[in-house]
Amino acid sequence: MSFVVTIDGPSAAGKSTAARTLASRLGFLYVDTGALYRAVALKMQWSGASPDDPAAVERCLAGTALDLSGSPEQPHVWLDGADVSGEIRTPAVSEMSSRIAALPAVRRKLVEIQRALRARGPLVAEGRDLGTVVFPDAEVKIFLDADLATRARRRARELEQRGIPVPLEQVSEELERRDRRDRSRADSPLRPADGAVVVDCSTMDVDGVVAEVLRVVRAHHAWPGGGAPAAGRGG
Ligand code: DC
Repeated sequence: MSFVVTIDGPSAAGKSTAARTLASRLGFLYVDTGALYRAVALKMQWSGASPDDPAAVERCLAGTALDLSGSPEQPHVWLDGADVSGEIRTPAVSEMSSRIAALPAVRRKLVEIQRALRARGPLVAEGRDLGTVVFPDAEVKIFLDADLATRARRRARELEQRGIPVPLEQVSEELERRDRRDRSRADSPLRPADGAVVVDCSTMDVDGVVAEVLRVVRAHHAWPGGGAPAAGRGG
């Protein structure tokens, strides 16, 4: 089985930047599982299906083809043969993705797709349930957290850079609402996995986070030459 590093945590904690940098440094595949939930949300939006109508959701899922490709620097997500990497990043898709992510039928299909990606090679996979549900046997599990104010500032800046300016207060409210939903859902709620190393990056930059995770990876006994004790490692 390929070596897997999972990075879970709330929205805008910096998971994507850390996971992409890490995948690039390790030569691993980068798996953005949120992009898959976002692609399903986009399909629901396009088809006008309501997340409150289980039959419509099942129909929508049955005819949906999803895939991830590209590099950590240029990841792509494919929906029914179309590259939707840009379209999935709007606030409306963020909101819809958090709603459909609570549906067991959606999670079942996407977990299956994610597990199959392990056959492609070693992975850095980020999301909400990678360490708890998708890859409970992952070699390294990280839970990346940051306080709400820090996360809201980061997300507002990111949206602005994409040409979607949203007031900071609104970004903060939307993040809080989505996180509450992600943490409180019955199926695969967001929480640190058993054995996860919890990293609070409120006052850390990306280099600091990546250095910390690299230290944990290189200390793992399955890493070539690894096995040295990693100070501060949990679990
Ligand atoms: O990481 P993100 O913001 O792109 O994720 C979009 C939504 O998908 C988010 O509200 C939670 C959900 N999600 C999930 O439930 N499980 C995952 N493994 C990844 C994302």
